[in-house]
Amino acid sequence: MRGSRISGMGHYLPERVVTNDDLAKFIDTSNEWIVQRTGIEERRWVEGNVGASDLAFEATKEALEEAGIKASDLDMIIFATLSPDINFPGSSCILQKMLNAPGVATLDIRNQCTGFVYGLSIADQFIKTGMMNNILVVGAEVHSSGLDMSTRGRDVTVLFGDGAGAAVVSASETDSRILDSKLHADGTQYDILMVELPASRLKERITADMLDDARHYPVMDGRNVFRQAVTAMPAVVNEVLEAHGYTPQDIDLLVPHQANLRINQMVARSLKLTQDQVFNNIMRYGNTTAASIPIALHEAIQAGRVKDGDLVVLAAFGAGLTWGANLIRW
Ligand code: COA
Repeated sequence: MRGSRISGMGHYLPERVVTNDDLAKFIDTSNEWIVQRTGIEERRWVEGNVGASDLAFEATKEALEEAGIKASDLDMIIFATLSPDINFPGSSCILQKMLNAPGVATLDIRNQCTGFVYGLSIADQFIKTGMMNNILVVGAEVHSSGLDMSTRGRDVTVLFGDGAGAAVVSASETDSRILDSKLHADGTQYDILMVELPASRLKERITADMLDDARHYPVMDGRNVFRQAVTAMPAVVNEVLEAHGYTPQDIDLLVPHQANLRINQMVARSLKLTQDQVFNNIMRYGNTTAASIPIALHEAIQAGRVKDGDLVVLAAFGAGLTWGANLIRW
């Protein structure tokens, strides 16, 4: 049976560590507030002109090396980000140039925090149909250049960090390690977490007045997002497990999207998972959106938390709204 598996992973975080106390120097906030509400202690932010593809490039080099292939062996680059280097073309093309892999297909996906889960599913389908053999799925974000660095934006600014994570998905002729994915969205709620500008639906995409009104910064109905995340994530985990006759007790490791430690603790409680069954690293990196799951999964592997044959579930919820889960036999 032809199937797919993750053959290599990599991740990269900028060196600059920004603590909660650092934020409190220019935003009316405190370490106590941020830790209590989110679990975040610090995050990484880039310095100078660094784009999402610069971070993705570093993560990709590591993933390719582990997979034992060259960039030119890839059939496609899938790039998930909500913070592309430029408006167009997509960051997948910029990364392809950096990798010096002309001719390799490129695909950008805009699924925010669920970007990696969607991307892995897309790669899995292209491989299972036999159309492709090696696909890079990379999630990378530079949030720091797009955040409101004043007290006005404090509910959002304290949450986000920069980073990148990458996986090479390869064909297997004997079995499939990626067992399934379940993907969902609810576009009726697109505006509860969004960045509006620049907006093609406006006659002028961006004006000085609009900038004065801070419409180029993220806006979020945090409580609403929180409430829906703690319901949708357990539901989609159960959905993907039940489709294969498993229960949450069969999970060796759940790697949830890292948006808020409290969300992940409630998800774990709702699924009756022990601490050993869940991996969190949001304390050190904040919410890196499309990069959060591949960074966390790679760190979990490096920490010996994922062994051959383990049942691994990746689950995400985020802007769109979008949510989903992948089921993997490692
Ligand atoms: N520092 C200090 N105070 C802050 C603050 C900050 N960074 N951000 C907001 N506050 C204040 C608010 O102004 C409010 O003050 P008020 O009561 O005087 O009006 C108070 O704290 C409570 O704000 P609220 O937004 O109700 O807090 P909360 O308990 O909902 O926590 C979040 C806020 C953002 C941490 C929480 O809603 C959350 O994590 N939501 C999900 C976000 C998420 O996951 N987003 C990404 C999805 S992928």
